[in-house]
Amino acid sequence: MTASPLLDVAGLNVRYGYVEAVRGISFSVAPGEILALIGANGAGKTSTLSALSGLTPATGRIAYRGTDISGLGAEKRSGLGIALTPEGRRVFPSLTVAENLLLGGAAHKGKHDPAAKREEMLSLFPILKERYHQRAGLLSGGEQQMLAIARSLMSAPDLLLLDEPSLGLAPQIVDQVFELIVKLNGTGLTILLVEQNASRALEIAHHALVLANGAVALSGKASDLLASPDIRAAYLSA
Ligand SMILES: Nc1ncnc2c1ncn2[C@@H]1O[C@H](COP(=O)(O)OP(=O)(O)O)[C@@H](O)[C@H]1O
Ligand SMILES: [Mg+2]
Repeated sequence: MTASPLLDVAGLNVRYGYVEAVRGISFSVAPGEILALIGANGAGKTSTLSALSGLTPATGRIAYRGTDISGLGAEKRSGLGIALTPEGRRVFPSLTVAENLLLGGAAHKGKHDPAAKREEMLSLFPILKERYHQRAGLLSGGEQQMLAIARSLMSAPDLLLLDEPSLGLAPQIVDQVFELIVKLNGTGLTILLVEQNASRALEIAHHALVLANGAVALSGKASDLLASPDIRAAYLSA
């Protein structure tokens, strides 16, 4: 049995003036899976996530749970269960860990209890409990990444758009971040994972999409992509 997709994208196009960053890409994300979106710098990965979250204007059809959401703004999409953890973490440095978390849940007060959600995050991310009253700007890169992910999860999403979570982190911390992604996926969270570290992403993903110059160069089962010598040579040399 094939479940109907959680997210179904058809002919997605993003342009910035004369730059066509995403050129009519189509793909779908099944409920409960990790879909890895890989590709070189400038391939259009961030633009794709940004368009899906509603932060960057785009054309094409985006269906979520079978409903066309292309006309909805970022806040509405977030309310429906789509969350973005942006590239570069973007925590509020002068606010505490506690305050950063509450801000993440602020737009969703009616849907669930922010205090209860915050407790849930502290048990998922024990390091944030230790750092609870510290300013986010004083955290290490890895801790800031954990906080950025936890903050996006405060809206209780079903789909997490995760942009370059391992960027700039020490290898040991990268391991922790990947373990966490697997753990979150194990709780039922569907994840669209953008990564420079293509091999690591393919190891934990179910399916994968390779973007090149804004177009889909390849797609398939992550294990197949990982096993192909041609693909390894062309895309996974990093
Ligand atoms: N705000 C912007 N204005 C103009 N061009 C942009 C902007 N953001 C990205 N681009 C361009 O769009 C293309 C895709 O960028 P991006 O989506 O950030 O790729 P990736 O995340 O794969 O590195 C690149 O050529 C980049 O220079
Ligand atoms: Mg990017």
